[in-house]
Amino acid sequence: MSPKRENFNSKLGLLLAIVGSAVGLGNMWRFPYLLGSNGGSAFLIIYLVLVFILCTPITLAEYYVGRKTKKDCFRAFDDILKPGPGRIFGSILCFSAFFTISYYIVVGGWIISYFFGCFNFNTFFSADNIKHFENVAMGMGGTPASALQSTITAILFLAISAVVLCGGVVKGIEKFSKITMPVLFFLILFVAIYSCSLDGAEEGIKYLLKPDFSKVTGSTFSNALGQAFMSLSLGCGTLMTYASYSQKDSNSVRTSLLTIILDSCFAIISGLAIIPAVFAFGMVPGQGPELLFNTLPRIFTLMKGGSLVAVLFFFTVFIAALSSAISLMEVLISVVTGSGKVSRGRAVLYVTAATIITGTLCCLSFGPLNGIKLPGGTIFDFFNITSTNIFMTLGSLGLVLLVGWKLGKKDFKSVLADKTPLGSSDVFFNIMFFIVRWVAPIVIVTIMVLGFINN
Ligand code: PFF
Repeated sequence: MSPKRENFNSKLGLLLAIVGSAVGLGNMWRFPYLLGSNGGSAFLIIYLVLVFILCTPITLAEYYVGRKTKKDCFRAFDDILKPGPGRIFGSILCFSAFFTISYYIVVGGWIISYFFGCFNFNTFFSADNIKHFENVAMGMGGTPASALQSTITAILFLAISAVVLCGGVVKGIEKFSKITMPVLFFLILFVAIYSCSLDGAEEGIKYLLKPDFSKVTGSTFSNALGQAFMSLSLGCGTLMTYASYSQKDSNSVRTSLLTIILDSCFAIISGLAIIPAVFAFGMVPGQGPELLFNTLPRIFTLMKGGSLVAVLFFFTVFIAALSSAISLMEVLISVVTGSGKVSRGRAVLYVTAATIITGTLCCLSFGPLNGIKLPGGTIFDFFNITSTNIFMTLGSLGLVLLVGWKLGKKDFKSVLADKTPLGSSDVFFNIMFFIVRWVAPIVIVTIMVLGFINN
């Protein structure tokens, strides 16, 4: 027999779980670089405008469906669209979550290696070893042995997520979020203060925050929007799933807005934790794996107290990535248990087993399977690009079309309204619904088309 569908025990638990899903690698390895290379605070302004004007209504739309149906994302659309077409749409969200978790655990595994490497600091962070790791991480020189090592750490990362998820919504996800999220914010703040106080850090702060409108081009907007979607975890069903576990009296509008504010703050603080240190040591900030797995480690070896800062930093990245991975797996677990025939424990097992298969293929694509080319590149690239460019975007597009055109404004408001000033304002809901119905579909389609043209 399946257990009864759980709810989060408290509003704070729900908020921190959603924030945990949002705050992740996107904030820590993508945002700082994008901010610096796209005109500093000029990019920040564009990003924040897009986040608050466009993504707030989309976030509310996802929250709305979860709260209204109280079902997993595969079955949520049964009542709205009839099971047939509804499930096709639900499947897109499931694929989105499954493809994302498949490559996310690979990076999670690298983080585990670096975290443990901090305890053997001088050897692990030596130039040669880091170079070797960069080669592995960037797919340039993976050997069967290194691919095997990254497979083991990826599975370890997945197993840790699975252990938390076995505890269920309240004893697993909620408890984990309540403990780790405050620690996460405290740690990143500490690292940011340290980084900004280094000699020569001002250059980095200027690079991040000085507006340079000459760097703003068309792609700045698509970069900003892509980043906003990824950072707020839109289009994977995570928000919908967590909202389906919300208690009756939870404040939907407040929770959504706070998530967006906290996620944006975390991204900016991450930038201040990373970029000023990069400049203080005369290096150039790169993007993605290079920044996190090469530039920063080299800096830690040069910095006073670098081994301690490295431990704190990689622990922070680890928690951020773990809480996002947990939310992605929960989407799939809730679908498997949603039939009523499978217990939670078994569902965790099935989802973990399926992810081990695809995750291992992604890991091995940095070594023995490097020669296999799929649309987008290697197996890892394929999972990464397909989930972001196709499934997440289609998932969000389908969602706004359904909410905007199939479900009415009245219901949107009555499900989401709360006692906060915005949550009880008709004007606010009119604007939000207008954006969901008209603006969001047009913008999403435009970005998709631009993405195809540019590739
Ligand atoms: N928001 C996460 C990040 O910024 O790394 C990534 C993510 C998590 C995307 C969960 C989608 C998702 F459903």
